[in-house]
Amino acid sequence: MNNNSNIGFGTAAIGRPLYINLKQNKEAEKPFSLAEFKANGMQTLEDAYNNGIRCFDTSPGYGLAEELMVTWLAHKKDPSISVSTKWGYTYVANFDPKATVHEIKEHSLQKLNEQWAYSKKLMPYLKVYQIHSATLDTGVLENEAVLNRLHQLKKENGLIIGLTTTGANQVEVLQKALDITVAGEQLFQSFQCTFNILDQSVLQCKEALQALQGSLIIKEALANGRLLPNTRYSKYEGLYGFLKVLAAQYSVGVDAIALRYCMDSFVGATILSGATNKGHLLANLEAHTFSLTIPELEKLNAFGKSSEAYWKERKALAWN
Ligand SMILES: NC(=O)c1ccc[n+]([C@@H]2O[C@H](COP(=O)([O-])OP(=O)(O)OC[C@H]3O[C@@H](n4cnc5c(N)ncnc54)[C@H](OP(=O)(O)O)[C@@H]3O)[C@@H](O)[C@H]2O)c1
Repeated sequence: MNNNSNIGFGTAAIGRPLYINLKQNKEAEKPFSLAEFKANGMQTLEDAYNNGIRCFDTSPGYGLAEELMVTWLAHKKDPSISVSTKWGYTYVANFDPKATVHEIKEHSLQKLNEQWAYSKKLMPYLKVYQIHSATLDTGVLENEAVLNRLHQLKKENGLIIGLTTTGANQVEVLQKALDITVAGEQLFQSFQCTFNILDQSVLQCKEALQALQGSLIIKEALANGRLLPNTRYSKYEGLYGFLKVLAAQYSVGVDAIALRYCMDSFVGATILSGATNKGHLLANLEAHTFSLTIPELEKLNAFGKSSEAYWKERKALAWN
């Protein structure tokens, strides 16, 4: 089996029917079936495992994803599996494809305790417990009751405490979080950040991110699908052209080039695949078959845009 330890599996899109992506290959509309959706999710977890993936990322905010993971893990007896989950978002769309509100954010001690009560079922595979989308405006990084409770959960359960960042000020949030200590220990030892060819902002914290006790987890490596050549973003034609040249050179898809860019930029990080089917998953895993050269990485770096412009475009994406 290939060593696919650098690629982790993100469960957002297998846990709720609508997610932020482009759905370029939309199937003919058919009525949503929760039973079929669950079966597909379980199969995709199994496909990920059978193809060497051992890191899985989930959240209560991802619909039934945590429940799928708990059910799936009950049949596994493999201590090499590790899971990260989060707290702070509640899924409220009830699997309704017409829902307009999908999730509610709440960074309170009460929400932490409520969601932990279910997430602890992921033990003993649960290794990383993250604040879901920590931002400065929720005040979570100054909430002593929350920080102390996270420290207590770390001590009692042998967890690594982490947080995820989203938005134009990821670097600011990271810098603030890196300075937080509880009982003389640095509290946050794992970060899940958006990093891809278009938003390279977290490279500014590279040294600190590579010195963590836990791993850096990279999400949205494909910019929610925007890095896959498509006609909606003609402004990226130059980038698409170069990605296609590299894909042909390494006999892989453009998705594998974009994932490899993350692996080669942050050696040792876990890069999440957000695949919803085996075809995409296997194509993503091709990222393990080659490495990019320094001149190729430098040329890709030149396609980065400002965080403000990146997140403005990201916010305009619809739930699909
Ligand atoms: N903490 C947070 O706030 C947060 C936020 C976002 C994500 N995440 C985590 O990161 C994981 C991955 O994130 P993501 O899904 O947003 O990121 P992504 O990797 O940037 O985008 C995934 C999308 O790319 C498309 N894709 C992937 N492989 C493809 C292929 N071979 N051919 C064509 N299209 C392909 C699919 O889009 P289509 O389905 O449209 O075809 C897929 O939904 C999530 O599951 C979650 O665990 C966390």
